[in-house]
Amino acid sequence: MLLEVKDISKSYKSRYGKTLREVLNGTSLSLRRGEKIAIAGPSGSGKTTLLNLAGTLDFPDKGEIFFNEKPLSAMDTADLASFRNREIGFVFQFHHLLPQLTLWENVLIPALPVNSGRKEIYNRAEELLRETGLWDIRHQKPGELSGGECQRTAVVRALVNSPSLLLADEPTGSLDSENADLLTKMLIRLGEKESLGMIVVTHSLEIALRMDRIYNLKDGRLEERQSQ
Ligand SMILES: Nc1ncnc2c1ncn2[C@@H]1O[C@H](COP(=O)(O)OP(=O)(O)O)[C@@H](O)[C@H]1O
Ligand SMILES: [Mg+2]
Repeated sequence: MLLEVKDISKSYKSRYGKTLREVLNGTSLSLRRGEKIAIAGPSGSGKTTLLNLAGTLDFPDKGEIFFNEKPLSAMDTADLASFRNREIGFVFQFHHLLPQLTLWENVLIPALPVNSGRKEIYNRAEELLRETGLWDIRHQKPGELSGGECQRTAVVRALVNSPSLLLADEPTGSLDSENADLLTKMLIRLGEKESLGMIVVTHSLEIALRMDRIYNLKDGRLEERQSQ
């Protein structure tokens, strides 16, 4: 199993340790390499919290998360940071590209702390930018481009270190329907080509229906939605 979330709970607490809200309560999930799932659920139901936990950006109060059978709780902060950088790609609702850098420079940022050859990483970035139709505009800056182009660049940036898991939090939430469709197709094509595990939080039924499984997050737990 690429990712295994086992019976995790998560509450947010005040500075004084008082529980403000129990967000996840006995949530479990398994994901193989190459599998893609959608998570739906109302605003505030804990979708982002769950992605943050799966992405090692935050930690559960109870339960355990395994990555390739290894418990994340066994890693120290430095191990986790390099693990996260190598194995997990993140895409958010907004692209968060750095405005003063070109697309080419932006997509190379995650490669900076990685100890691989320059040539290898340049080849990888070039391959992804060509594959996604962004190569010809690589020397432009985010402010000169459309929202769709920026969001596609954010996907390239997420994949430049060849992660095995892609976590996307409402990746089409800021796009018009045409660009949302382009981005969805691109995510699915790259996911299949690279055999990525993919978790997409989305309100869009169109995206959800293209995933292998759909879950609803409700009352702190995931329920699989049965396909009709
Ligand atoms: N850092 C935080 N501190 C306190 N409460 C938080 C924090 N992050 C999220 N929450 C609360 O946890 C709940 C779930 O949030 P979130 O995971 O962002 O939901 P979703 O992504 O489904 O909209 C919400 O009620 C939110 O206000
Ligand atoms: Mg959210």
